[in-house]
Amino acid sequence: MAVPIDMSSDEAVVETLAAFWHPVCSVDELRTSEGRTLGVVLLGRELVIAELTGDTPAYVAMDDRCLHRSTRLSVGWAEPDGVRCAYHGWKWDGGGRCIDVPSMPDGPIPAKAKVRAYRVAERYGLIWVCLDDRADNPIPAFVADGDQSLRIVAGEPYTWPVSALRRVENFVDLAHFAWVHVGTLGRREEPVPPLPDIERVDGELRFTYDPPQDFDASSAAMYGWSRYRMPIPCTVSIEFALGNGARRVLWMTASPIDLETCRCFWFMARSDDRDGPDDPHVEFQRIVLAQDLPVVTNQVPRALPLDPADELSVRTDRVSIEYRRWLRELVADTVRSHG
Ligand code: FES
Ligand SMILES: [Fe+2]
Repeated sequence: MAVPIDMSSDEAVVETLAAFWHPVCSVDELRTSEGRTLGVVLLGRELVIAELTGDTPAYVAMDDRCLHRSTRLSVGWAEPDGVRCAYHGWKWDGGGRCIDVPSMPDGPIPAKAKVRAYRVAERYGLIWVCLDDRADNPIPAFVADGDQSLRIVAGEPYTWPVSALRRVENFVDLAHFAWVHVGTLGRREEPVPPLPDIERVDGELRFTYDPPQDFDASSAAMYGWSRYRMPIPCTVSIEFALGNGARRVLWMTASPIDLETCRCFWFMARSDDRDGPDDPHVEFQRIVLAQDLPVVTNQVPRALPLDPADELSVRTDRVSIEYRRWLRELVADTVRSHG
């Protein structure tokens, strides 16, 4: 029987987020790592990610601890059919089962020699993991994927000492443009944000934003009428229709390393300036990130409080109020399903 969990507990939030797929590294990071194994942390759980070295790409995600003498498996290396522990050479297959104990070639392999393994998949050049075997949420869509009219640029992942949920809430906060992004995305003399209608469609949270057209945005800016979609609480996809008719996309997933730390994976896409250099576009995003960093990473506590009484909201916080309402519903569903 499932164990009851307390709605206000960190455990409830962890369980809720565990039902979604999260990126843990890029394929490039994994391919260039020694032994094609990488130690990552997702929702406080240490995992080894490996790309097996057989003919077809096969990825593995399992607890990063060898059951023999507890060395991290990420110190070992990938082979065609499993991950070899560096300490005494035990080999663990993609399902987490030990298939080789070199010191005992005639066996037997202990029946208990099974490490917990998780679902893992590659999508958009990222490695995704879902910790909850029972969940059936899809990997969040990236609308630009496969769209030949768009040039896609993968941003450099970055780690911030703040909850993934606070990071995402900042990403969809329309009221901070006039303060944090003066000159890049907003003007100090326009502090009143629009109050978009927020929809729930197919499990997504969606709204649109129509910023002032007379703003002198950089040609590299993601600025214009925009459609925000949040397929899961950690992913934001923004499609922009620029004044010049171009289409751009900004996509970001904040992967919860734990409830106080996140690693953000992101992409940009553009239908204009497709043959131009990416640098000005990347640089613009770098400036925007540098503007966000001090305010977002100085939120105390780092975890996002779900109790509405914990922070003060006003009418103009409509997006974040709805975002938190959605999170509370998801957590309540988790608590109910464990009750
Ligand atoms: S600790 Fe892994 S084989 Fe001994
Ligand atoms: Fe921002």
